[in-house]
Amino acid sequence: RLVSIIGVPLDLGANHRGVDIGPSAVRYAQLEEHLQALGYSIEDKGDILPNKPNCSYLDESNLKYLDEITRVNTELCAIVAEEISRNRFPLVLGGDHSIAIGTISGVLQHKQRLGVLWFDAHGDINTAETSPSGNIHGMPVAVRFGLGHERLLGIGGRRVTLNPQKFVMIGVRDLDPGEKKLLKKLGITVYTMHEIDLFGMAAIMEKAIRQVSDGTDGVHVSFDMDAMDPLHAPGVGTPVLGGLTYRESHLAMELLAAANIVTSAEFVEINTVLDHRNQTAKVAVALIRSLLGERTL
Ligand code: ARG
Ligand code: MN
Ligand code: MN
Ligand code: MN
Repeated sequence: RLVSIIGVPLDLGANHRGVDIGPSAVRYAQLEEHLQALGYSIEDKGDILPNKPNCSYLDESNLKYLDEITRVNTELCAIVAEEISRNRFPLVLGGDHSIAIGTISGVLQHKQRLGVLWFDAHGDINTAETSPSGNIHGMPVAVRFGLGHERLLGIGGRRVTLNPQKFVMIGVRDLDPGEKKLLKKLGITVYTMHEIDLFGMAAIMEKAIRQVSDGTDGVHVSFDMDAMDPLHAPGVGTPVLGGLTYRESHLAMELLAAANIVTSAEFVEINTVLDHRNQTAKVAVALIRSLLGERTL
């Protein structure tokens, strides 16, 4: 019952500035107090501070702020690996979703057969060749399957990649053409909003949990707050209508807690500049509480 909180106030991978205040916003929503009340022993490792470049970001390679994003993720990878070796549960607070590159490469140092549940409106499986924006927060999944710029692939040293069979996406409703092709080619299980509408979150989670936990030595949850409907989580840079409700998201977290399979987690893309009264950070804290076992009764 040991949790290490790691803040990554990085917004260079996103389309809008403002997700850099995410870790503070979640702390202000009393994450630590709530987790202590659940019986966890918390260590807040503070933030990995990005340098804010004032230079122009776009090089010819369609990878905005590649240098600084590589540096921050390299540091994040090391801290995540270190906390796992100390037998602590890494809870990473973003920041934009490019930080999943560092978080997951850190986890992979210890757990080579890792399952991943990726909650997102998007696929985040672009490469520089397919990305319409050049924003690296749209690329972390591709990098974790070994596709992308050399510098990003090199994070974490050895080239451990994820098994596409043990990677499940939930809540997806906005994919670029190149992403659709790659998801099909890799054979990744994608539960779009269509399947969630049709079968319900409980049935989807039952299947997803089985898939990522069978034959793996750990499960990572990567939760992009834009997986939720903007009605419930308005403070995100790339909102897409028709997302998960507050209840569906909670049910997913509660079922994961009951299955007792999750070994690391990250909550990302909380943009406080676009939020209403810190609502999205508060929702993130509520989801984290459910994920870590809080029950109403
Ligand atoms: N697919 C779009 C892009 O590549 C949006 C990505 C949004 N990603 C996110 N982590 N919010 O730019
Ligand atoms: Mn997203
Ligand atoms: Mn994302
Ligand atoms: Mn977003």
